[in-house]
Amino acid sequence: MSVLVPLSSLIPLSAPFAADDIVGLDRILAGSSAVQRAWLSGFLAGVDAGQAQAAAVPAGAARPAEPLLIVYASESGNSERLAGQLGKAAKKSGFKPRVVDFADLDLGELPKARHLVVIAATWGEGDPPARAATTYAALMGDGAPRLEGVDFGVLALGDMAYAEFCAVGRALDLRLEALGARRALDRVDLDLDFEAGAASWTEQALKALAPAPSPDAVAAAASNVVAVDFGRTGGDPSRTPVEAEVVDHVDLNSSRSDKETIHVALDFDGAAPLYEPGDSLELFPSNDPQLVAEVLSAAGLSGDEALRQALTAERDISTLSPVTIERFVAATGHPDARQLVDSGQARAWSEGRHLIDLLAAFPASLAAEQLRDITRPLPPRAYSIASSRKEVGDEAHLLISAVRYETHGRARSGVASTHVADRVKRGARLKVRLKPNRHFRLPADPATDILMVGPGTGVAPFRAFVQERRAVGAAGRSWLFFGDRRFTHDFLYQLEWQDALDDGSLSRIDVAFSRDQPEKIYVQDRLYEQRRDVVDWLEGGASFYVCGDGTAMARDVRASLVRAFAEVKALTPDAAEAAVAQLERDKRYLTDVY
Ligand SMILES: Cc1cc2nc3c(=O)[nH]c(=O)nc-3n(C[C@H](O)[C@H](O)[C@H](O)COP(=O)(O)OP(=O)(O)OC[C@H]3O[C@@H](n4cnc5c(N)ncnc54)[C@H](O)[C@@H]3O)c2cc1C
Ligand SMILES: Cc1cc2nc3c(=O)[nH]c(=O)nc-3n(C[C@H](O)[C@H](O)[C@H](O)COP(=O)(O)O)c2cc1C
Repeated sequence: MSVLVPLSSLIPLSAPFAADDIVGLDRILAGSSAVQRAWLSGFLAGVDAGQAQAAAVPAGAARPAEPLLIVYASESGNSERLAGQLGKAAKKSGFKPRVVDFADLDLGELPKARHLVVIAATWGEGDPPARAATTYAALMGDGAPRLEGVDFGVLALGDMAYAEFCAVGRALDLRLEALGARRALDRVDLDLDFEAGAASWTEQALKALAPAPSPDAVAAAASNVVAVDFGRTGGDPSRTPVEAEVVDHVDLNSSRSDKETIHVALDFDGAAPLYEPGDSLELFPSNDPQLVAEVLSAAGLSGDEALRQALTAERDISTLSPVTIERFVAATGHPDARQLVDSGQARAWSEGRHLIDLLAAFPASLAAEQLRDITRPLPPRAYSIASSRKEVGDEAHLLISAVRYETHGRARSGVASTHVADRVKRGARLKVRLKPNRHFRLPADPATDILMVGPGTGVAPFRAFVQERRAVGAAGRSWLFFGDRRFTHDFLYQLEWQDALDDGSLSRIDVAFSRDQPEKIYVQDRLYEQRRDVVDWLEGGASFYVCGDGTAMARDVRASLVRAFAEVKALTPDAAEAAVAQLERDKRYLTDVY
């Protein structure tokens, strides 16, 4: 039987092999990595040099696998997870990887790393993740080490909805180069649907960072080289969403409140994710059917049922980024929209506007695929789990604040929060996925005291903490700072805190209701008022937790604590700042902010 040798074959037809051997060899080589091919060539050279001699070399004498330093800057775990996946793939590919959190990175290590990968997320408004902030500042500062001789690659994670898209990854990429390191492959900036892009960048990074194929060096990698399956490394089964039934759905604000904060209990029918207090669930929402109808109508596609379904459940039809505008211009050629892009005004114009504003401002007919393709996949939203499995068994509870506001004369609704607030009732099913957070855990020793600062929905994980500590009979004291607008209408879980005080699982609560008096009072003010006890608890070994709004509240609480140390311990502002920074380094000041 004759065998067809593909034209793209790596092995030339002139090779001294039969045609079917060429096909077989080609099949193996096509899926091989640079390290694997280099190993093979070194190995075959060794075989020809004399098998007996090769066999006589003791295993321990083999040169070590190529080191690879993988550093991640992560807040909510995505970069951390990708760094772990890259570490596994690198090991299989013949590297000796070391995966390090930016928070634990000693900058002095960098010049010694021949191969460096950085995976970095951007937070706040273009800021590094909180844990990474100190090392990031040092790397950007004058004292950063020179990095000649280091080959590097940067993978940046972000969200196109933000003006400073992937700002931290971009800055790190430039900084490493400025310090003398050599960029081995181009940076890639990834949006919230980063899985596929990250898998393919990982594959390219391992090829680009692989050592040059000298038979000597690569023969040593022999014992480590295993085929790498990038599809599998990307497809973690714990990332598969699961369905749960809504068994409780209650607005915890009074009917006279101007807020809606929904307590949702999910029942997993025997298959609850193995969550710990401090973890979140990612919720897969669907879009408001009325908004879907408006978008379809504006694009002249109201009759397309398949598209209606896709836009409802799968596509992000709210976020308007410059990329969306550029795709719209490419699809429609609309001259005014093109002018917006060409004049560099797209970002400014998109502020506070959504896709529907674009379609309304620049009317154009779109084909179904065009409308679909200018949108991005609908990302899930994270919600802190507000329960402990030890108390609620197979359930998980969430606390979700409905996001509603108005911009450019249009009423807007947060996709996921109003999906839950408006379109979900008891008996409905929700699709969720566990998002673990090993950086926001209760102290290992239940005898340790804890202080929890959680205004608004920031209180959610602390309900889980209190339930957990009740269930294990923790000896440590627990102190909660809660805040919201008004005592009568917005005191979330008020009766539960009362019960917890009665049974001792909560030792103390201080509350700040900002609108109950003429002057605004917030949790950071209560913290400062109670500074003597706060400092006393912390000096006694307590852990300090902050959850909720990451823009103002988290920063103000930290500043308040610095002031508290300065006042109580009679420290200079610098010394007080150092005291709080030490708590952070000791992982006794933990934040989960959004
Ligand atoms: C780790 C983590 C835990 C979280 N835990 C909780 C939790 O326990 N409870 C909770 O409620 N949320 C929590 N969140 C926030 C949550 O994930 C969502 O971001 C939030 O519910 C809004 O999502 P949405 O889909 O309703 O709104 P989206 O459709 O995503 O809209 C939100 C966007 O609308 C814009 N916007 C909002 N308000 C205004 C305004 N007044 N003016 C102009 N623009 C505005 C902003 O661009 C904002 O980013 C958490 C987030 C993270 C990362
Ligand atoms: C409160 C908040 C602020 C964010 N700010 C930015 C930003 O300024 N720029 C950006 O590109 N992405 C921003 N993001 C998106 C994150 O970078 C993105 O979710 C990333 O995947 C998180 O990675 P991590 O889990 O490793 O922290 C923000 C996300 C949140 C929740």
